[in-house]
Formats: sequence, C-alpha cells, structure tokens
Amino acid sequence: MLTKQMQEALNRQVQIEAQSSQVYLAMASWAEIQPGIDNVTAFFYRHSDEERMHMLKLIHFINERGGFAVVPSLEQPTLTYPSIKHAFKELLNHEVMVSESINNLVDIALQEKDYATHNFLQWYVAEQIEEESLARTLNDKLEMIGDEKSGLYLFDQDILNVSVEGESTNM
Ligand code: FEO
Repeated sequence: MLTKQMQEALNRQVQIEAQSSQVYLAMASWAEIQPGIDNVTAFFYRHSDEERMHMLKLIHFINERGGFAVVPSLEQPTLTYPSIKHAFKELLNHEVMVSESINNLVDIALQEKDYATHNFLQWYVAEQIEEESLARTLNDKLEMIGDEKSGLYLFDQDILNVSVEGESTNM
C-alpha cells in the first residue's frame, strides 16, 4: 500500500512523463515540416510514444498498489525551435530534469522503507541512464557538424541506427 506522500510523488511523475510525451510530440510535429530530416522526425515521434509508455507504467503501478493514478492536465509545449541543435539541447535538458525527479522518488521510497516502489523505480533509473547518454551522444554529434547541411543529412541517416535500449520490450 502506498503512503499518501509516495502516491502524490508518483502522481507528480505521471504528470512529468505525460508532459515529456507532449514536449517530444511537439518536436516531432515541428521536425516533420522541416525539409530532409525524416528520420529525426521519426525519432521524436517514437520518443514521444516511449514517454507515454513510461506514464502508463506508473499509472498501472499506482493503481495496483492501492492508490489512485490521476490523469494530469498538460502545459502547451514549445512549438518551434530555431534549429535542430536547439531541439536536441532541450531534449537533453529535459531528460536531466526527469532523472533528478526519478532520483527524488527513489529517495522518498528509501526514507519510507517502501521497497516495492524502490524496486519498481529501478527500471526508471536504468532508463534515464540510457536516455541521458543517448541525448548527450546526439548533442555531441550535432556540435561536431556545426551548421553544415551535408552534416545534417548524415546526422539524419545516423539517427536511423539509434534505438533506446529496450524501448518496446521493457513494459
Ligand atoms: Fe520518461 Fe525520458 O523520461
């Protein structure tokens, strides 16, 4: 059974994951109308779907542990970006924020000696390591490319090979 504090903290994470999905969906829609970055577009759409999966996983856990998962209202995300580089920088910053939030949940679980929730959260801890690492790699590549169009073409080809570890198998 979840404590009130743990339940509220997990519900805040439901909101963060839902908002993340919304942020990446907006990136995908913006990318889709830019020329020549079809694979980047697909990456953002896929990332948005993954965040929705992260949210659903939390909703099921909260309800299964005797709590009530609250479906949150969302903020309008940023709709346009000055460049692809800016979008990926935002993606990295966003993932760092999510990691901090997950770490905070782990802290609460430990304080409460709620080992079931602690165990559940380990999936998110591992996922955040993957996501932050991927975001850093992509930012580093964009930094090397600079503003060259040909580099961007290669980046778009390259991102085809990128997949977040366990993206559809760990639900
Ligand atoms: Fe679900 Fe990318 O954090």
